[in-house]
Amino acid sequence: MREDMAYILLSREQIAQRVKKLGECIRRDFEGKKPLMVCILKGSVVFFSDLIRSVDMPLEIEFMTASSYGSATVSSGEVKVVGALDEKIRDRHVILVEDIIDSGRTIAYIKADMLNKGVKSLTVCTLLDKPSRRVSDVQPDYTGFEVPDAFVVGYGLDYAQAYRNFPDIGVLKPEIYEN
Ligand code: IMP
Ligand code: MG
Repeated sequence: MREDMAYILLSREQIAQRVKKLGECIRRDFEGKKPLMVCILKGSVVFFSDLIRSVDMPLEIEFMTASSYGSATVSSGEVKVVGALDEKIRDRHVILVEDIIDSGRTIAYIKADMLNKGVKSLTVCTLLDKPSRRVSDVQPDYTGFEVPDAFVVGYGLDYAQAYRNFPDIGVLKPEIYEN
């Protein structure tokens, strides 16, 4: 897989260090509140599994699936959600865990939907933020790294479902998706 990357943007060591720090921040901010951490599949699964183990206090987890991409590298603008959590989020301190916020459409859609369902609080934690491409007006509460406007894969992030198991985060060579 390494040969398909133009370069490695974030190494597994850099990611691990930052994820540990994010976990400490969440613990500090949610002490005693037993938050419900929600993994937005599939891209967040690797980040999520590391993050929850770096939050050293009682919490619960849930999963939902959101997609806006298909197999292109630019957002289709249409968000599909499977497994909306409805009753499970009522009166809970919900922390949405995303892999990357790009146009912001996915997270804006999920937030608007959840705010109608009686959550006690709603917080967004994203590993990566690409603020230069924002279309929807949405800001994450916790960000791992700001990244430039390039298509990145690995550590859960995919191109056409590939590279999710690459342990670092790399910028994909443009010829991979241009062909
Ligand atoms: P948004 O709705 O445009 O913010 O898109 C968010 C989703 O698009 C993320 O959860 C990712 O699944 C996907 N995405 C956005 N940028 C990238 C990227 O550079 N690499 C891989 N997936 C991406
Ligand atoms: Mg995703």
